Amino acid sequence: MSEFVRIMSQQDLPAEGEAREVECGEYQLCVARLNGEITVMNNICPHNGGPLGQGIIENGKIVCPWHAWAFDLKTGQAEHEPRARVPIYDFKIEGDDVLAKLD
Ligand code: FES
Repeated sequence: MSEFVRIMSQQDLPAEGEAREVECGEYQLCVARLNGEITVMNNICPHNGGPLGQGIIENGKIVCPWHAWAFDLKTGQAEHEPRARVPIYDFKIEGDDVLAKLD
């Protein structure tokens, strides 16, 4: 059973409408903020391994910088490929720490 682990400090969260990459142990994460809501998802694009945290956000989706596959920030579902989904992780904020449940 996985537990919440610290992934970053709250002050390092991305600005509205932006995403960033975060490394936490063996995990590469993409942390995004849209309409005030934070998403913590895997950073590795299921198409060919592109860094989603370097992508831009359009229409509620993070767009991979390599070949422009787009993934819903709420579900991780790829826009045009039903079999592709990016894992999204539960997270919480405690004090200045952002904690995520990585499994
Ligand atoms: S690696 Fe992300 S769209 Fe190709």
